[in-house]
Parts: sequence; structure tokens; C-alpha cells
Amino acid sequence: MNYEVNKEAEKSEGSNKIYWAYREMPVLALIRERFKKGKPLAGINISGCLHITTETANLAITLKEGGARVALCASNPLSTCDEVAHSLVKDHDISVFAVYGESREMYYRHAHQTLDNIPHITMDDGGDLVSTIHKERKELMETILGGTEETTTGVHRFENMEREGVLKYPIIAVNDAYTKYLFDNRYGTGQSTIDGIIRATNILLAGKRFVVGGYGWCGRGVAMRARGMGAHVMVTEVDPTRALEAVMDGFDVLPMERAAQQGDIFVTTTGNTSIICERHFTKIVVRLAAVACAVLFAHTVHRMVTSHLGYFCEPKHTAVLLAEEKPEVASTLFANAYEAEIDGLAWFIGPGAAGDDIGCDHSSCRGGLEELATRGIHGN
Ligand SMILES: NC(=O)c1ccc[n+]([C@@H]2O[C@H](COP(=O)([O-])OP(=O)(O)OC[C@H]3O[C@@H](n4cnc5c(N)ncnc54)[C@H](O)[C@@H]3O)[C@@H](O)[C@H]2O)c1
Repeated sequence: MNYEVNKEAEKSEGSNKIYWAYREMPVLALIRERFKKGKPLAGINISGCLHITTETANLAITLKEGGARVALCASNPLSTCDEVAHSLVKDHDISVFAVYGESREMYYRHAHQTLDNIPHITMDDGGDLVSTIHKERKELMETILGGTEETTTGVHRFENMEREGVLKYPIIAVNDAYTKYLFDNRYGTGQSTIDGIIRATNILLAGKRFVVGGYGWCGRGVAMRARGMGAHVMVTEVDPTRALEAVMDGFDVLPMERAAQQGDIFVTTTGNTSIICERHFTKIVVRLAAVACAVLFAHTVHRMVTSHLGYFCEPKHTAVLLAEEKPEVASTLFANAYEAEIDGLAWFIGPGAAGDDIGCDHSSCRGGLEELATRGIHGN
């Protein structure tokens, strides 16, 4: 069996952690029992590019119990729990190619190694397996039956491909299930974002002016939890119906131009680009010590000019950004290079602290934040 995981995780307690999560996954437990008996996936190869967390581990174990041959890689290098990856290999004979903090080169190598499993089914969180297959591994399409996609942004990618007539196999939009967006996106991301911000900054949220960009499923979860912590929450939203919902939920709704002048903390949850951009930074920077953060991972980083800020960049997903050249804003913390248009040091704040078989936990926050703690907010 091929695999590549962090060997240093050998003595860790991955299996206990996986079991702890399993106790919170009663629906998956029922499915596992059924799979053990019926083996409905016998002869099926499944390749997954998902967050390598305890919940994903339980999913993979269940698929294996159902007879599938499973290979996994990480959909975000900063959400990988090394001890979980190691336990999947050691205790469950599941091929895992994932190392916390892996480089871009290793990330794509691992995607290819996962695809060497010759999948009948792909499982994506962000669409990287499907796009790799469509661009570089077209031969695999002969045997593929279909795939799944976990997140809003991935679903949008595939909807675009479908519209253009280039999507070559069917994908189930897991994100569009009630049990996903109503719970994981809203409550999971809501909780883990607040958790991440507090762990990264150790600031008191009560009394802070907290700006949430986008009042979709993640945005309303973040807004709800920030308010619960005593923050004064402001929302920016381009969809008039959602903006009205935010108003009726009791939040101030205003354009980012104005919010940038007022906010202490910024979280963007749109999956869109340019939510906080240079003209906003200027206003934020003028207001000293703003903390800006975005929860959500994007699948492309837009590099751009933010010449008045200094920072470092990691190519994928979210970023935490620091202002090196402007020490007065050194506590500025951004967490999404895409939405905030930052060439920034990448740290990952999601995925959500979600419940039953949703496949998310706090680990990614913790991973990123442990890094922050070790290297310091100002370091690289
Ligand atoms: N990290 C995680 O744990 C996690 C979990 C779930 C979803 N996500 C990602 O989070 C993002 C949002 O997901 P969602 O389910 O909330 O999506 P959604 O479609 O429900 O909400 C996005 C909202 O942003 C608004 N918006 C778009 N452009 C805007 C702009 N320029 N200014 C203000 N508002 C704008 C939209 O009108 C919409 O209301 C997606 O990229 C998704 O993939 C991440």
C-alpha cells in the first residue's frame, strides 16, 4: 500500500481522536453497521481530496467497511491532522497522502498519487481532484462513475464547467444538502471562525465592531456567534434579499467602504474576490490595530498590490497577513488571501466545528493557530 504521512506522528493518539469524533457521528455509525454487512462498495475505488480530520477519517473507515478501496489526500495542507493521517495508514490500511503544511508541489503530487488509486468515485472539497482529472488525468474518465463536492465554491466551479459543457462526469453537490449548508456552513463555520480569531489574537470580542462580508450560510453563522460574544456586528451583502434578512435579524448593513472605516475585526464569507481590497486596506490601516480575517478558503489566490503592507504568501487558500512595513498595524490579521486580495502568509481558519458526519472539526483552526503561536503573528 502506498502512502505518505508524517512519520513523527507515529507515537501520537490518532486512533483515540478518531474514536472521540465517532462518538458524535451516530448517523455515520448506522451507515457503517449497514456497510459492514452488505459491502455495497465492494470493487469500488474511491479517491478523496478532503480535510484530513477525525471526521473524514471516520468517513474513510466507513467506506472501507463498505468494501471500497480508499485513497485520500488533503484538500488543504493546513487542515491536515498528522496523527489522524498516520492512524488511517497504520490502524486501517487506508492510503493517505497528506502531511501538515505540505508545499504546493507536494500537494499536487499527493493529488496524483491519490488518483493512482484509479477511482470509480472522486470526493472533493474545493474541486481539485476533478480539475486535475479534467486537465491532466483524462485517461481516468473511462472508469469514473461520478463524484461528490463538499463546498459552495467547489459546487460553483462545477456549475460553471457544466454550463460551459466541459464537465465530463456527474458530481453530487453535497454542499446543497440541508444537512450541510444549514449546519456545517452556519453553525460549524460560525463556531470555528470565532474560535480561530480568539485563539490567534486573544482579544476580547465584547464591544468590538465586527464586520461580516456576505450574509450567506457561513456569514450568518459567524454574525450570530460574534453577536453572542458581545460584538457589535455589521454586515456587507450584495444580494438585496439577504441584506434585508440581515437587517431583520438585527444587524447593521452597510457597504464595505463605510464598514472599513468603522470595523475592528473583518471576516469575509463570500467565496468571491476583492471583498476587502486596497482602497479598504487604506481605511483599515488608518484605523490602527484592526484585525481583519476571513474564514473561508478560496481555491485561487489573487495576488495583488498592497504595497503599503508587507507580508508573505503561501499560494493556496486562506491567509493571515501582517503589516510589516507599518508596525502600527502589525496586529492586523487577515485570513483569506483571495477574498482580501492579499499576497499574505497563508493560514487556514475553517473548516467548521461541525457535528454529525459533516467531516469538519476545529483542527484546521488549531493547526494554523499553533503555527501562529509558534512563529508569532509577525513572523513568516
Ligand atoms: N472553511 C470552511 O469551513 C467552509 C465551510 C463552508 C463553506 N466554505 C466556503 O465559504 C464560502 C461561502 O459559503 P456559503 O455557503 O456561506 O455561501 P453562500 O453562497 O451561502 O453565501 C455567500 C454570500 O456572499 C454574498 N456575496 C458575494 N459577493 C459579495 C460581495 N462582493 N460583497 C458582499 N457579499 C457578497 C452572496 O450574495 C451570498 O449571500 C464559500 O467559498 C464556501 O466554499 C468554507
